Amino acid sequence: MRHILVPEDLSAHEIEAIFAISKDLETKYAAGLRDALLPGRMLALVFEKPSLRTRVSFEAAMAHLGGSSVFLGADAGFSSSRESVADFGRVLSEYADAIVCRSKSHDTISALAAAASVPVINGLSDYCHPCQALADIYTFKQHVGRIAGHTLAFVGDGNNVARSLAVVCGLLGMRFVLAAPQGYEFDEPFRNHLKSLLPNAEIVETTDAVAAVKDAAVVYTDVWASMGQEKERARRLEAFAPYQVNEALMKHCPDAIFMHCLPARRGEEVTDGVIDGPQSVVVEEAANRMHVQKGLLAWLLAK
Ligand code: CP
Ligand code: NVA
Repeated sequence: MRHILVPEDLSAHEIEAIFAISKDLETKYAAGLRDALLPGRMLALVFEKPSLRTRVSFEAAMAHLGGSSVFLGADAGFSSSRESVADFGRVLSEYADAIVCRSKSHDTISALAAAASVPVINGLSDYCHPCQALADIYTFKQHVGRIAGHTLAFVGDGNNVARSLAVVCGLLGMRFVLAAPQGYEFDEPFRNHLKSLLPNAEIVETTDAVAAVKDAAVVYTDVWASMGQEKERARRLEAFAPYQVNEALMKHCPDAIFMHCLPARRGEEVTDGVIDGPQSVVVEEAANRMHVQKGLLAWLLAK
C-alpha cells in the first residue's frame, strides 16, 4: 500500500510509468472509449478547502474507470471536535479503496495517512500539491516530447505548488528557477530537504523575474495569496507587484509556454493578455489533471 503525500513519494521511474498509463487512457478517452480498470472501486474525497479542478477531475476519473466516488466536505466533521483524524481514517478505510485529502495543514494529511489502511493521496496541503505538479509536467512533456534539460521558471510565491514543481522537475531532470521577492522564497528547511533529496538537481532562486524567464521553456505562476493566507493579501499584493506575468515579461521568452494551476486572480499575478494569449496552455493543464490522476489511480489500485 502506497500513500502519495509529497511528490517525492514517487520515483522518476514511477512517474514515467504513471504518465504512460495516463497517455494511453487519454488517447482512449479522446476516441470515446472508457477503460473500466477500477470496477466497483470507491474513492473518498475529504476536503477542508474549496476546489473545482481537484474534486471534479478525481470524481470524473473514477467514473470513467468504472468506479465511484464520495465527496466529504465540512459536514463530515473531518479534523474537528467530532472525532479524531485517526478514527476518521480508520473507519473511512473500511468503505473506500483510496482517499484523496485536501487539508489546511499538511500534518493533518500525514495523520490521516498514518491511520488509514488504504492509499491516501494529497489533493493539496499548505505544504505541497503533488497531483498538480504531475499534471503540469505531463502537459509540458506533451508539448516538447523530452523533459530533461529544459527550464521551468516559476514567477511568484515559493508556495505549495512551487515546492511540488521544484521536486518533480528535479526528479525528471528539468531545471527549476524560482523568481520571488525577498521573504517569499523557499525556506531554509525546504532548501536543505531539496539538497539532500536531489543533490544533482539544478534548482535556482532569484529575485530577478526577467533573468528567470529568459531561458525558460515554461513560465509558471500561481496566486500571490494562497487559500488560508487571505489576511496577508494586502501586504502580498504590494510585495509581488513587480512579479506579475504580463506581456512585457513574456516578450523575453517568446517560445515558452505559460502555465498556471488555476484558479487565477486575473490582473494580479497574470494579465488577461497572457492567460488568454497564444502561449497559454492553462485549460489543457487543467484537463490533464483528470488524465494524470486516472493514471495515478490505475497505477495505485488496478490489479
Ligand atoms: N489547481 C487546483 O487544484 O484547482 P482547485 O483548487 O480548483 O482544485
Ligand atoms: N497555491 C494555491 C493553489 C490552489 C490550487 C493555494 O494553495 O491556494
